[in-house]
Amino acid sequence: MQLRALHRASALVLTVYALLHIANHLASLGGVPLHMVVMSTLRRVYRQPVVEALLLACVTLQATSGVWLTVRGWSERVGRVAWLQAASGLYLAFFLVVHVSAVLFGRAVFGLDTNFYFAAAGFHVAPFQWFFAPYYFLAVVSLFAHLGCALYWQLESSKPLGARAALSVMLGVGALFALLITLSMAGAFAPFDVPSEYKKTFGGT
Ligand code: HEM
Repeated sequence: MQLRALHRASALVLTVYALLHIANHLASLGGVPLHMVVMSTLRRVYRQPVVEALLLACVTLQATSGVWLTVRGWSERVGRVAWLQAASGLYLAFFLVVHVSAVLFGRAVFGLDTNFYFAAAGFHVAPFQWFFAPYYFLAVVSLFAHLGCALYWQLESSKPLGARAALSVMLGVGALFALLITLSMAGAFAPFDVPSEYKKTFGGT
C-alpha cells in the first residue's frame, strides 16, 4: 500500500476516535460529572487492549507518515489550502506525539487516572495556562482545519464553491469548539476544584 493510502486509512480510525473525544470534552460544558460519565462509557470501547493498541499504532503511523508526506511535497506546495493542510498536519503530528506520551506517562509513572482533571490541571497552576490554552486550542482548530482541507480537495474539481464553503464551515466549527473546550477546562462554565494529586505534577498544591 502506498504511504498516502496508509495515511488516509489510519486517519479514518483516528477521526472516529477524535470526534467522539471532542464530543466528550464538549460534554464538560454541562459539568465535570457529565464529562466523566461520557468518558467512562467511551472507555469501555477504546480502553479494550485491541482497540487501544490499534489507536496507538494509528497515532504513530499518522504522525510519522504525515511529517514525511509534508517534507516530501514541500517544494510542490502551492496555494493557501495546501499550506493550511501542511501547517495543521504538522501541528497535529506534534500534538499527537506530546499528548499521547503525556497520557501514557501520567498513567504509568504517576499512576493517575487520566480523566478531565488530568487535562485541566495545567490551567490551574500558574504559569502553565499560557502553554495549555494555545496548545489545546490549536489542536482542535488544526483537527478541523486538516479535515476541512481533505474535504476541500475531494470537492474542488466538481464543486469549487462547495469546497470553499465546506472548508470555511470546518474552520468556523473548529474555532468555536476549540474556544468552548479551552474555556471549559479553565473553569469558565462550571467551576470545579482540581484534586491536588493532579496539580502536584505541575509543582502546585
Ligand atoms: C482540547 C483538546 C483535548 C483534550 C483536553 C484531550 C484530553 C485527553 C485525555 C484526558 C485523554 C486520556 C483519556 C483516558 O484516559 O481515557 C486523552 C487521550 C487521547 N487523546 Fe486527547 N484531548 C484533546 C484533543 C485530542 C485530539 C484533537 C486528538 C487527536 C487528533 C486526541 C487524541 C488522543 C488519543 C489518541 C488519546 C489516547 C487514548 C488512549 O489510548 O487511551 N486528543 N486526551
